[in-house]
Amino acid sequence: MITIWNGKTNRLKKEKTNDMNSDINNPNPNTKYPVPNIDTVCYIKPLIKNPNVIVGDFTYFSDDENPEDFERHITHFYDFYDDKLIIGKFCQIAKGVIFMMNGANHKMNAFSTYPFYIFEGWGAKIPPINEFPLKGDTVIGNDVWIGENSTVLAGAKIGDGAIIGAHSVVASDVEPYTIVCGNPAKPIRKRFDKETVDFLLKLQWWNWSIEKIKQNIDILSNADMEKLKTIEYP
Ligand SMILES: CC(C)(COP(=O)(O)OP(=O)(O)OC[C@H]1O[C@@H](n2cnc3c(N)ncnc32)[C@H](O)[C@@H]1OP(=O)(O)O)[C@@H](O)C(=O)NCCC(=O)NCCS
Repeated sequence: MITIWNGKTNRLKKEKTNDMNSDINNPNPNTKYPVPNIDTVCYIKPLIKNPNVIVGDFTYFSDDENPEDFERHITHFYDFYDDKLIIGKFCQIAKGVIFMMNGANHKMNAFSTYPFYIFEGWGAKIPPINEFPLKGDTVIGNDVWIGENSTVLAGAKIGDGAIIGAHSVVASDVEPYTIVCGNPAKPIRKRFDKETVDFLLKLQWWNWSIEKIKQNIDILSNADMEKLKTIEYP
């Protein structure tokens, strides 16, 4: 039995679950509303219906209106292009964030960008897929914080531990543990020196067991490199 805050009815609800991850003393990545008494934050993974969206455990979406509606924040997402949105574990996605997929990009190698082929009456043929400016899958790493009202454009790759400032437009790749801001989002600084970043990327704490993360939460929630180095990694 786990406790789930039901945002629709504004009351606490007990739900039975057969989930093997369900343990009253541990966080459960399949819980929809993981913050006690708060109905504006959802873990995303249990909400996803589209097989082309892959989201890791404990990544959450915060939204005042309807945090369960995360998939509506993925726009221009058409089967025709077969692109994927891949988001790692423990990401923090603020309200108003948009992932704009490849279907947003009109064919540009033509005198007109007007998509005659989707409208009735013009008799225009759908161009072959290789004539569209496809940018590939959008890939967000682990422990990435995406600030409010930011837009991630198709094909962007955001590295582990990156921070995207509020109202940014991510149009190109972001290196791990880098803070980027603005439109187009540009690096304002690295979060740590190279040695620390390399260590964190080898450590990959997001892939540890829940127990190991719990044991090391104080270290992970601070920035003392000496303490970080006491943790062994394979
Ligand atoms: C990026 C952020 C994390 C601050 O990082 P920081 O390293 O402390 O950055 P600073 O405040 O020192 O600013 C450094 C520079 O970046 C600029 N900057 C900071 N945030 C910016 C943003 N979102 N867009 C554009 N520029 C920004 C600052 O103006 C400053 O510019 P300057 O050097 O020309 O003066 C913060 O500004 C931000 O955007 N937070 C997102 C908050 C949010 O959306 N939360 C959602 C709810 S969880």
